[in-house]
Amino acid sequence: MDLDQPTVLLPGDVRMPLLGFGTWQATGRAGYDAVLAALDAGYRHLDTATMYGNEEEVGRAVRESGLRREDVFITTKLPPDRVGRERETIEASLRALGTDHLDLWLIHWPPSSPADSIPVWRELLAARDADLTRAVGVSNYGTAQLDELIQATEENPAVNQIRWSPSLYDRQRHTEHRDRGIVLEGYSPFKASDLSDPVLTRIAAAHDVSPAQVVLRWHVDHEIVVIPKSVTPERIRANADIWNFSLTAEEMRDIDALGG
Ligand SMILES: NC(=O)c1ccc[n+]([C@@H]2O[C@H](COP(=O)([O-])OP(=O)(O)OC[C@H]3O[C@@H](n4cnc5c(N)ncnc54)[C@H](OP(=O)(O)O)[C@@H]3O)[C@@H](O)[C@H]2O)c1
Repeated sequence: MDLDQPTVLLPGDVRMPLLGFGTWQATGRAGYDAVLAALDAGYRHLDTATMYGNEEEVGRAVRESGLRREDVFITTKLPPDRVGRERETIEASLRALGTDHLDLWLIHWPPSSPADSIPVWRELLAARDADLTRAVGVSNYGTAQLDELIQATEENPAVNQIRWSPSLYDRQRHTEHRDRGIVLEGYSPFKASDLSDPVLTRIAAAHDVSPAQVVLRWHVDHEIVVIPKSVTPERIRANADIWNFSLTAEEMRDIDALGG
């Protein structure tokens, strides 16, 4: 991957861009247009899921962007109701996306029956070993659930994708991921934020940017992957335009403090 924006290294020498593009609720023509606009704006990481029902649109936008497949990082996710049908699910994702491999495949939610946890994780590892995906991870897992997988298989999820934002900031939880070599990926950065919070508006004004851009930069400066979603062209562009300012240590602390 030839990139001039920050990445984090996953096991297997896989480079994951810290800024990605979320696609939940971006389907059909609007989803296709949004992904194409995102690639045009410079995003090189797309987050989809079997459950989002838009893998075809995402794949078509990647192909029609003219970018090389290896220059776009693609994540999709296994829905909880596909336990026991993991291989057919990833094969369907690959067909819909029009690619022969994913960059990251995640278990979307912990299986409803705890007895399924380890078998499902082993299926993800098997898909990685069969080169259907370069890395595997989970989403919406607590630390005890991560440890259960690691203890059973001695294989750490590369990533845990969880709801995250300044108001959800939890230093200990972040450290727990770091200690295990698991990359924390945050979702719903805006929905979980109050963009009119005075701390965010003050810091945004100081850098002549928007509170939304401050929220995204705060993730990146913590080396937390962030995947904002938008179907609005100006917002798609603005959310990718976060490389020309950086937050001071004091500003980072002030934003961290919003997490209580
Ligand atoms: N693993 C999971 O369980 C899980 C769960 C939820 C989400 N996700 C992933 O994370 C991605 C992001 O989360 P999300 O879609 O829930 O929420 P989000 O990115 O926090 O927020 C999206 C909303 O914010 C608006 N918005 C975008 N840019 C903005 C800006 N600069 N200023 C103000 N508002 C802005 C969007 O509106 P417009 O689109 O109208 O512009 C949309 O309504 C998802 O798309 C999905 O890929 C994963």
